[in-house]
Amino acid sequence: MISIIGSGKVGATAAAFLMLGEADKKIVLVDILQGVPQGEALDMNHAAAILGKSVEVIGSNNYEDIKGSDIVIITAGLARKPGMTREELAGKNAEIVAGVAEQVKKYAPNSIVIITTNPLDAMVTVLYKKLGFPRNRVIGFSGVLDSRRMAYYASQYIGVSPASIVPLVLGQHGENMYPVPELSSVYGKSLKDFLTEEQYNKVVKDTIEAGAQITNLRKFSSNWGPAAGLLLMVDAIKKDRKLVVEASVLLDGEYGVKGVFAEVPVVLGKDGAEKIIEVPLSSQQKELFMKSINAIKENLKQVPPQYLA
Ligand code: APR
Repeated sequence: MISIIGSGKVGATAAAFLMLGEADKKIVLVDILQGVPQGEALDMNHAAAILGKSVEVIGSNNYEDIKGSDIVIITAGLARKPGMTREELAGKNAEIVAGVAEQVKKYAPNSIVIITTNPLDAMVTVLYKKLGFPRNRVIGFSGVLDSRRMAYYASQYIGVSPASIVPLVLGQHGENMYPVPELSSVYGKSLKDFLTEEQYNKVVKDTIEAGAQITNLRKFSSNWGPAAGLLLMVDAIKKDRKLVVEASVLLDGEYGVKGVFAEVPVVLGKDGAEKIIEVPLSSQQKELFMKSINAIKENLKQVPPQYLA
């Protein structure tokens, strides 16, 4: 059983993708809004009936219904509104995430938890503190999104499928992320050897700005990419695939960093983020990685301290 907290754009789209992928027989959608998760669930059950998918989606306003979940996806939170500062958003979403964490701890204490709520690196830290779960079971989404977005942009120049590219993006999810095309490859051939300098810089820029670009164009943030990434991650965990994807996990000495959640390649299997893959970095690359780590630390300062205790 998989539960999704927050049946807004990301939550509902993720539920639909999980249904299409038959990731589990039962998907529970929880939201504080009365009627919304129930309506989404009903509509999706009709879609499942049309396509012959053996999945039942349940909409609920009651956290008790997440009992028995092996995976919980948290998408609850506010989007930044005009005039709202990043600090205000971080404070508000930290309050929401801390509240959700309490319920997950109570009703799904053995689950693997994946969170999409932004600012991601700060919110996954709040979640980790409030859940008290081991680090392999607390995973920040979006590495898979950032890295696959980079594969997409690079593929446009190279003329190979994005699936044939192994992309590497490290550090923060946000404007200080560190895309590393030079350490990304097509069968061992670095993207640097495929791209002109101008293309290389454009791939980096587009990757960093992808989320903002979507929001600028249609006035609300990304949901299709996140839902696809969530399906990939959930499937890897459910089927114990040992798939390597990128995710924000707590570093405990890896990459020379301790006590910070950051995007790195991880092995996903039945125990969640089972292992971190440490990619050797040059001294210049290390410097850029640490710049991104420092931006994450700065983000954490925007969160009221009671949510990080
Ligand atoms: N418990 C459950 N649901 C909640 C709670 C809560 N305490 N607080 C808010 N929600 C719900 C809202 O009612 C809303 O339905 O979370 C949902 C958020 O949905 P959207 O506003 O559509 O936001 P969405 O686009 O789905 O993004 C969710 O993921 O990618 C990130 O930046 C994004 O932080 C944002 C999150």
